[in-house]
Amino acid sequence: MIDNSKRLEHISEYYFSKKLREVKSLIDKGEDIVNLGIGSPDLFPPENSINTVIKSLNQKNAHKYQGYSGIYQLREKISSFYKKYYEVDLHPDQNVLPLIGSKEGIFHISMSFLNDDDSVLIPNPGYPTYSSITKLIGNKIINYDLTESNNWEPDFNNLKKLDLSKVKIMWVNYPNMPTGRTASVNLFKKIVQFGKENNILIVNDNPYSFILNDNPLSIMSISGAMENCIELNSMSKIYNMAGWRVGFVVGNPTFISNILKVKSNMDSGMFYPVQMGAANALSQNNDWFEKLNIKYKERRELVWELASKLGCTFSKDNVGMFIWAKINKSIPSKEFVDNLLHKSGIFVAPGIIFGTNGEGYIRISLCNSTANIKKAISRL
Ligand SMILES: Cc1ncc(COP(=O)(O)O)c(C=O)c1O
Repeated sequence: MIDNSKRLEHISEYYFSKKLREVKSLIDKGEDIVNLGIGSPDLFPPENSINTVIKSLNQKNAHKYQGYSGIYQLREKISSFYKKYYEVDLHPDQNVLPLIGSKEGIFHISMSFLNDDDSVLIPNPGYPTYSSITKLIGNKIINYDLTESNNWEPDFNNLKKLDLSKVKIMWVNYPNMPTGRTASVNLFKKIVQFGKENNILIVNDNPYSFILNDNPLSIMSISGAMENCIELNSMSKIYNMAGWRVGFVVGNPTFISNILKVKSNMDSGMFYPVQMGAANALSQNNDWFEKLNIKYKERRELVWELASKLGCTFSKDNVGMFIWAKINKSIPSKEFVDNLLHKSGIFVAPGIIFGTNGEGYIRISLCNSTANIKKAISRL
Protein backbone atom coordinates (compact mmCIF):
# COMPACT_ATOMS: atom_id res chain seq x y z
CA MET A 1 0.00 0.00 0.00
CA ILE A 2 1.62 3.24 -1.12
CA ASP A 3 0.17 6.33 0.53
CA ASN A 4 0.01 9.69 -1.10
CA SER A 5 1.98 12.54 0.36
CA LYS A 6 0.34 14.23 3.36
CA ARG A 7 0.60 17.46 1.38
CA LEU A 8 -2.23 16.28 -0.86
CA GLU A 9 -4.58 16.14 2.11
CA HIS A 10 -4.71 19.93 2.15
CA ILE A 11 -5.58 20.48 -1.48
CA SER A 12 -8.04 19.09 -3.98
CA GLU A 13 -8.05 18.88 -7.76
CA TYR A 14 -8.46 22.34 -9.34
CA TYR A 15 -12.19 23.17 -9.70
CA PHE A 16 -11.97 23.68 -13.46
CA SER A 17 -9.96 20.51 -13.97
CA LYS A 18 -12.91 18.56 -12.50
CA LYS A 19 -15.79 20.68 -13.74
CA LEU A 20 -14.61 20.84 -17.33
CA ARG A 21 -14.66 17.03 -17.40
CA GLU A 22 -18.34 17.23 -16.46
CA VAL A 23 -18.96 19.91 -19.12
CA LYS A 24 -17.17 17.75 -21.70
CA SER A 25 -19.21 14.71 -20.81
CA LEU A 26 -22.41 16.74 -21.38
CA ILE A 27 -21.05 17.89 -24.75
CA ASP A 28 -20.12 14.29 -25.63
CA LYS A 29 -23.73 13.31 -24.91
CA GLY A 30 -24.80 15.82 -27.54
CA GLU A 31 -25.68 18.80 -25.35
CA ASP A 32 -24.87 22.24 -26.73
CA ILE A 33 -23.09 23.93 -23.82
CA VAL A 34 -22.06 27.59 -24.01
CA ASN A 35 -18.85 27.75 -22.00
CA LEU A 36 -18.48 31.10 -20.26
CA GLY A 37 -16.55 29.58 -17.39
CA ILE A 38 -12.88 29.89 -18.08
CA GLY A 39 -10.55 32.66 -19.18
CA SER A 40 -8.91 30.87 -22.09
CA PRO A 41 -9.00 33.33 -25.01
CA ASP A 42 -10.72 31.91 -28.10
CA LEU A 43 -9.29 34.71 -30.28
CA PHE A 44 -6.07 34.10 -32.16
CA PRO A 45 -2.58 35.32 -31.24
CA PRO A 46 -1.08 37.96 -33.58
CA GLU A 47 -0.67 36.49 -37.06
CA ASN A 48 2.99 37.45 -37.40
CA SER A 49 3.76 35.87 -34.01
CA ILE A 50 2.36 32.59 -35.30
CA ASN A 51 4.45 32.97 -38.47
CA THR A 52 7.52 33.69 -36.35
CA VAL A 53 6.98 30.41 -34.47
CA ILE A 54 6.66 28.51 -37.73
CA LYS A 55 9.80 30.08 -39.21
CA SER A 56 11.79 29.53 -36.01
CA LEU A 57 11.05 25.82 -36.03
CA ASN A 58 13.63 25.29 -38.73
CA GLN A 59 16.42 27.20 -37.06
CA LYS A 60 19.57 25.29 -36.31
CA ASN A 61 19.24 25.25 -32.51
CA ALA A 62 15.48 25.39 -32.20
CA HIS A 63 15.14 21.82 -30.98
CA LYS A 64 17.82 22.10 -28.28
CA TYR A 65 17.51 22.90 -24.61
CA GLN A 66 17.39 26.65 -24.22
CA GLY A 67 18.99 28.77 -21.51
CA TYR A 68 17.33 28.76 -18.10
CA SER A 69 16.77 32.54 -18.16
CA GLY A 70 14.99 32.59 -21.52
CA ILE A 71 16.43 33.94 -24.75
CA TYR A 72 17.82 37.47 -24.75
CA GLN A 73 15.41 38.62 -27.51
CA LEU A 74 12.45 37.80 -25.26
CA ARG A 75 13.91 39.43 -22.15
CA GLU A 76 14.77 42.50 -24.18
CA LYS A 77 11.22 42.80 -25.55
CA ILE A 78 9.79 42.38 -22.05
CA SER A 79 11.98 45.27 -20.88
CA SER A 80 10.88 47.49 -23.79
CA PHE A 81 7.25 46.55 -23.12
CA TYR A 82 7.55 47.59 -19.47
CA LYS A 83 9.15 50.88 -20.52
CA LYS A 84 6.60 51.61 -23.22
CA TYR A 85 3.41 50.78 -21.35
CA TYR A 86 4.23 51.10 -17.65
CA GLU A 87 7.19 53.52 -17.69
CA VAL A 88 9.30 51.06 -15.73
CA ASP A 89 13.03 50.62 -16.47
CA LEU A 90 14.13 46.99 -16.45
CA HIS A 91 17.48 45.54 -17.42
CA PRO A 92 16.91 42.50 -19.66
CA ASP A 93 19.68 40.53 -17.94
CA GLN A 94 18.96 41.50 -14.36
CA ASN A 95 15.34 42.34 -13.78
CA VAL A 96 13.46 39.91 -16.02
CA LEU A 97 12.86 36.16 -15.98
CA PRO A 98 10.57 34.50 -18.56
CA LEU A 99 8.32 31.77 -17.16
CA ILE A 100 6.30 28.88 -18.54
CA GLY A 101 3.15 30.87 -17.75
CA SER A 102 2.79 33.04 -14.69
CA LYS A 103 1.08 30.21 -12.77
CA GLU A 104 4.40 28.39 -12.37
CA GLY A 105 5.87 31.64 -11.05
CA ILE A 106 3.55 31.42 -8.03
CA PHE A 107 5.22 28.15 -7.09
CA HIS A 108 8.77 29.35 -7.78
CA ILE A 109 8.30 32.55 -5.79
CA SER A 110 6.79 30.65 -2.86
CA MET A 111 9.66 28.14 -2.91
CA SER A 112 12.24 30.91 -3.20
CA PHE A 113 11.16 33.00 -0.24
CA LEU A 114 9.20 30.97 2.31
CA ASN A 115 10.65 29.21 5.33
CA ASP A 116 8.71 26.58 7.26
CA ASP A 117 6.97 28.83 9.75
CA ASP A 118 6.32 31.81 7.47
CA SER A 119 2.78 32.92 6.75
CA VAL A 120 1.33 34.26 3.52
CA LEU A 121 -1.30 36.97 3.03
CA ILE A 122 -3.77 35.94 0.36
CA PRO A 123 -6.74 37.90 -1.00
CA ASN A 124 -10.25 36.55 -0.46
CA PRO A 125 -11.63 36.34 -3.11
CA GLY A 126 -8.57 35.59 -5.21
CA TYR A 127 -6.94 33.34 -7.79
CA PRO A 128 -7.11 29.87 -6.14
CA THR A 129 -3.51 29.00 -7.00
CA TYR A 130 -2.09 31.39 -4.36
CA SER A 131 -3.76 29.28 -1.67
CA SER A 132 -3.18 25.85 -3.17
CA ILE A 133 0.54 26.41 -3.70
CA THR A 134 0.91 27.82 -0.19
CA LYS A 135 -0.84 24.73 1.18
CA LEU A 136 1.24 22.36 -0.95
CA ILE A 137 4.42 23.92 0.36
CA GLY A 138 3.05 23.74 3.88
CA ASN A 139 2.92 27.40 4.88
CA LYS A 140 0.18 29.12 6.81
CA ILE A 141 -2.39 31.18 4.94
CA ILE A 142 -3.76 34.39 6.37
CA ASN A 143 -6.62 35.58 4.19
CA TYR A 144 -7.30 39.27 3.85
CA ASP A 145 -10.77 40.40 2.87
CA LEU A 146 -11.67 42.12 -0.34
CA THR A 147 -15.28 43.26 -0.18
CA GLU A 148 -17.62 45.11 -2.47
CA SER A 149 -18.25 47.71 0.24
CA ASN A 150 -14.52 48.49 0.26
CA ASN A 151 -14.28 48.51 -3.56
CA TRP A 152 -12.51 45.15 -3.50
CA GLU A 153 -9.46 46.83 -1.97
CA PRO A 154 -7.59 45.63 1.13
CA ASP A 155 -8.71 47.32 4.33
CA PHE A 156 -5.43 48.51 5.80
CA ASN A 157 -6.93 49.12 9.25
CA ASN A 158 -7.95 45.47 9.40
CA LEU A 159 -4.62 44.32 7.98
CA LYS A 160 -2.71 46.21 10.66
CA LYS A 161 -4.73 44.48 13.38
CA LEU A 162 -3.47 41.06 12.24
CA ASP A 163 -0.42 39.38 13.71
CA LEU A 164 1.96 40.05 10.83
CA SER A 165 5.15 38.96 12.58
CA LYS A 166 5.46 35.76 10.54
CA VAL A 167 4.12 37.09 7.23
CA LYS A 168 6.71 36.90 4.46
CA ILE A 169 4.70 37.28 1.25
CA MET A 170 1.54 39.20 0.37
CA TRP A 171 -0.18 38.23 -2.89
CA VAL A 172 -1.81 41.15 -4.64
CA ASN A 173 -3.64 41.00 -7.95
CA TYR A 174 -4.68 44.20 -9.74
CA PRO A 175 -6.47 44.44 -12.08
CA ASN A 176 -8.18 41.94 -9.85
CA MET A 177 -9.47 38.56 -10.83
CA PRO A 178 -12.30 37.68 -10.23
CA THR A 179 -13.74 41.11 -9.33
CA GLY A 180 -12.30 43.16 -12.22
CA ARG A 181 -11.31 45.97 -9.88
CA THR A 182 -8.32 48.12 -10.87
CA ALA A 183 -5.73 49.60 -8.52
CA SER A 184 -5.05 53.33 -8.41
CA VAL A 185 -1.49 54.63 -8.05
CA ASN A 186 -2.49 55.57 -4.55
CA LEU A 187 -3.59 52.04 -3.66
CA PHE A 188 -0.33 50.62 -5.01
CA LYS A 189 1.61 53.20 -2.98
CA LYS A 190 -0.22 52.12 0.18
CA ILE A 191 0.47 48.45 -0.55
CA VAL A 192 4.19 49.07 -1.18
CA GLN A 193 4.38 51.11 2.02
CA PHE A 194 2.53 48.45 4.01
CA GLY A 195 5.03 45.85 2.75
CA LYS A 196 7.97 47.99 3.76
CA GLU A 197 6.63 48.77 7.22
CA ASN A 198 6.08 45.08 7.90
CA ASN A 199 9.03 43.60 6.01
CA ILE A 200 6.74 41.73 3.62
CA LEU A 201 7.51 40.81 0.02
CA ILE A 202 4.66 42.12 -2.16
CA VAL A 203 3.92 40.11 -5.28
CA ASN A 204 1.51 41.72 -7.73
CA ASP A 205 0.05 39.34 -10.29
CA ASN A 206 -0.76 41.47 -13.33
CA PRO A 207 -2.07 39.43 -16.29
CA TYR A 208 -5.14 41.55 -17.07
CA SER A 209 -3.87 45.12 -17.33
CA PHE A 210 -4.60 45.56 -21.04
CA ILE A 211 -8.04 43.96 -21.20
CA LEU A 212 -10.76 46.65 -21.31
CA ASN A 213 -8.53 48.87 -19.20
CA ASP A 214 -7.54 52.37 -20.29
CA ASN A 215 -4.90 52.75 -17.60
CA PRO A 216 -2.46 49.84 -17.49
CA LEU A 217 -0.44 50.10 -14.32
CA SER A 218 2.46 48.17 -12.85
CA ILE A 219 3.23 48.14 -9.15
CA MET A 220 6.89 48.41 -10.19
CA SER A 221 6.22 52.00 -11.33
CA ILE A 222 5.78 53.07 -7.69
CA SER A 223 8.89 54.74 -6.34
CA GLY A 224 10.88 52.30 -4.18
CA ALA A 225 8.86 49.25 -5.29
CA MET A 226 11.98 47.47 -6.58
CA GLU A 227 13.12 47.07 -2.96
CA ASN A 228 10.25 44.87 -1.78
CA CYS A 229 8.01 44.04 -4.75
CA ILE A 230 7.92 41.52 -7.55
CA GLU A 231 5.48 41.48 -10.43
CA LEU A 232 4.19 38.54 -12.45
CA ASN A 233 2.89 39.16 -15.92
CA SER A 234 1.58 36.93 -18.67
CA MET A 235 1.17 36.62 -22.43
CA SER A 236 -1.86 34.36 -21.95
CA LYS A 237 -4.61 36.95 -21.90
CA ILE A 238 -3.16 39.98 -23.64
CA TYR A 239 -1.85 38.12 -26.70
CA ASN A 240 -4.27 35.16 -26.65
CA MET A 241 -1.44 32.74 -25.93
CA ALA A 242 -2.77 30.85 -22.90
CA GLY A 243 -1.74 27.48 -24.36
CA TRP A 244 1.70 28.69 -25.44
CA ARG A 245 2.60 28.99 -21.75
CA VAL A 246 4.58 32.21 -21.60
CA GLY A 247 4.70 34.57 -18.67
CA PHE A 248 7.42 36.44 -16.85
CA VAL A 249 8.46 37.81 -13.51
CA VAL A 250 10.18 41.15 -12.96
CA GLY A 251 11.97 42.44 -9.89
CA ASN A 252 15.32 43.39 -8.48
CA PRO A 253 18.37 41.27 -9.44
CA THR A 254 18.57 39.52 -6.05
CA PHE A 255 14.92 38.48 -6.17
CA ILE A 256 15.24 37.33 -9.78
CA SER A 257 18.35 35.26 -9.06
CA ASN A 258 16.61 33.64 -6.06
CA ILE A 259 13.69 32.62 -8.28
CA LEU A 260 16.10 31.35 -10.95
CA LYS A 261 17.72 29.08 -8.35
CA VAL A 262 14.40 27.27 -7.98
CA LYS A 263 13.28 27.47 -11.59
CA SER A 264 16.54 26.22 -13.10
CA ASN A 265 16.19 23.09 -10.99
CA MET A 266 12.60 22.55 -12.08
CA ASP A 267 12.58 22.89 -15.87
CA SER A 268 15.05 23.05 -18.72
CA GLY A 269 14.03 26.16 -20.57
CA MET A 270 11.23 27.01 -22.97
CA PHE A 271 10.81 25.90 -26.57
CA TYR A 272 12.76 28.35 -28.74
CA PRO A 273 10.04 29.01 -31.38
CA VAL A 274 7.53 29.86 -28.65
CA GLN A 275 9.96 32.34 -27.11
CA MET A 276 10.57 33.92 -30.52
CA GLY A 277 6.80 34.13 -31.15
CA ALA A 278 6.26 35.73 -27.75
CA ALA A 279 9.06 38.25 -28.40
CA ASN A 280 7.36 39.12 -31.68
CA ALA A 281 4.01 39.63 -29.94
CA LEU A 282 5.50 42.02 -27.41
CA SER A 283 6.56 44.32 -30.23
CA GLN A 284 3.06 44.62 -31.75
CA ASN A 285 1.77 48.15 -32.25
CA ASN A 286 -0.76 49.64 -29.85
CA ASP A 287 -3.53 48.86 -32.30
CA TRP A 288 -3.27 45.19 -31.24
CA PHE A 289 -4.88 46.12 -27.91
CA GLU A 290 -7.33 48.48 -29.57
CA LYS A 291 -8.60 45.75 -31.90
CA LEU A 292 -8.70 43.20 -29.10
CA ASN A 293 -10.70 45.49 -26.87
CA ILE A 294 -13.23 46.32 -29.59
CA LYS A 295 -14.10 42.61 -29.59
CA TYR A 296 -14.20 42.36 -25.81
CA LYS A 297 -16.38 45.50 -25.55
CA GLU A 298 -18.93 43.98 -27.90
CA ARG A 299 -18.95 40.76 -25.88
CA ARG A 300 -19.12 42.62 -22.58
CA GLU A 301 -22.31 44.44 -23.65
CA LEU A 302 -23.89 41.05 -24.34
CA VAL A 303 -22.62 39.49 -21.13
CA TRP A 304 -24.09 42.43 -19.19
CA GLU A 305 -27.42 41.62 -20.87
CA LEU A 306 -26.98 37.95 -19.94
CA ALA A 307 -26.16 38.82 -16.33
CA SER A 308 -29.22 41.09 -16.09
CA LYS A 309 -31.42 38.31 -17.48
CA LEU A 310 -30.05 36.08 -14.73
CA GLY A 311 -31.24 38.65 -12.20
CA CYS A 312 -27.66 39.57 -11.27
CA THR A 313 -26.25 43.01 -10.55
CA PHE A 314 -22.75 44.15 -11.49
CA SER A 315 -20.51 47.17 -11.85
CA LYS A 316 -19.83 48.54 -15.29
CA ASP A 317 -16.55 50.11 -14.11
CA ASN A 318 -14.62 46.88 -13.82
CA VAL A 319 -11.98 45.66 -16.27
CA GLY A 320 -10.45 42.36 -17.42
CA MET A 321 -12.00 39.46 -19.26
CA PHE A 322 -14.74 38.55 -16.80
CA ILE A 323 -17.96 40.04 -15.48
CA TRP A 324 -18.27 39.61 -11.73
CA ALA A 325 -21.96 39.53 -10.97
CA LYS A 326 -23.93 39.35 -7.73
CA ILE A 327 -26.55 36.64 -7.70
CA ASN A 328 -29.17 38.42 -5.56
CA LYS A 329 -30.79 35.14 -4.53
CA SER A 330 -30.12 33.26 -1.35
CA ILE A 331 -28.73 30.22 -3.11
CA PRO A 332 -25.13 29.00 -3.00
CA SER A 333 -23.17 30.03 -6.09
CA LYS A 334 -22.28 26.41 -6.94
CA GLU A 335 -25.97 25.48 -6.94
CA PHE A 336 -26.80 28.51 -9.09
CA VAL A 337 -24.08 27.47 -11.56
CA ASP A 338 -25.18 23.83 -11.65
CA ASN A 339 -28.81 24.84 -12.27
CA LEU A 340 -27.73 27.10 -15.10
CA LEU A 341 -25.56 24.37 -16.60
CA HIS A 342 -28.18 21.65 -16.45
CA LYS A 343 -31.29 23.71 -17.24
CA SER A 344 -29.92 26.14 -19.84
CA GLY A 345 -26.63 24.64 -21.01
CA ILE A 346 -24.63 27.67 -19.92
CA PHE A 347 -21.46 27.27 -17.88
CA VAL A 348 -20.16 30.10 -15.68
CA ALA A 349 -17.85 30.00 -12.65
CA PRO A 350 -19.26 30.06 -9.10
CA GLY A 351 -17.78 32.83 -6.95
CA ILE A 352 -17.13 30.52 -3.99
CA ILE A 353 -14.18 28.87 -5.77
CA PHE A 354 -12.30 32.15 -5.33
CA GLY A 355 -12.88 32.22 -1.56
CA THR A 356 -15.67 32.72 0.95
CA ASN A 357 -16.06 36.39 0.00
CA GLY A 358 -16.87 35.21 -3.52
CA GLU A 359 -20.00 33.42 -2.29
CA GLY A 360 -23.11 35.05 -3.72
CA TYR A 361 -21.37 35.94 -7.00
CA ILE A 362 -20.67 34.35 -10.36
CA ARG A 363 -17.86 35.07 -12.80
CA ILE A 364 -18.78 35.15 -16.50
CA SER A 365 -16.00 34.94 -19.06
CA LEU A 366 -15.76 37.02 -22.23
CA CYS A 367 -13.83 34.25 -23.99
CA ASN A 368 -16.59 33.14 -26.28
CA SER A 369 -18.05 34.47 -29.52
CA THR A 370 -20.86 37.03 -29.68
CA ALA A 371 -22.92 34.39 -31.51
CA ASN A 372 -22.57 31.99 -28.59
CA ILE A 373 -23.27 34.65 -25.98
CA LYS A 374 -26.41 35.63 -27.91
CA LYS A 375 -27.40 31.97 -27.98
CA ALA A 376 -26.98 31.84 -24.20
CA ILE A 377 -29.14 34.96 -23.79
CA SER A 378 -31.84 33.49 -26.00
CA ARG A 379 -32.06 30.44 -23.72
CA LEU A 380 -33.00 32.48 -20.67
C1 LIG B 1 -5.02 36.13 -11.59
C2 LIG B 1 -4.36 35.14 -12.45
N1 LIG B 1 -3.04 34.93 -12.29
C3 LIG B 1 -2.37 34.03 -13.04
C4 LIG B 1 -3.02 33.29 -13.99
C5 LIG B 1 -2.22 32.27 -14.78
O1 LIG B 1 -1.84 32.75 -16.01
P1 LIG B 1 -0.79 31.98 -16.91
O2 LIG B 1 -1.55 31.47 -18.08
O3 LIG B 1 0.22 33.02 -17.29
O4 LIG B 1 -0.18 30.90 -16.11
C6 LIG B 1 -4.38 33.46 -14.20
C7 LIG B 1 -5.08 32.62 -15.19
O5 LIG B 1 -6.25 32.48 -15.27
C8 LIG B 1 -5.07 34.41 -13.42
O6 LIG B 1 -6.38 34.62 -13.55
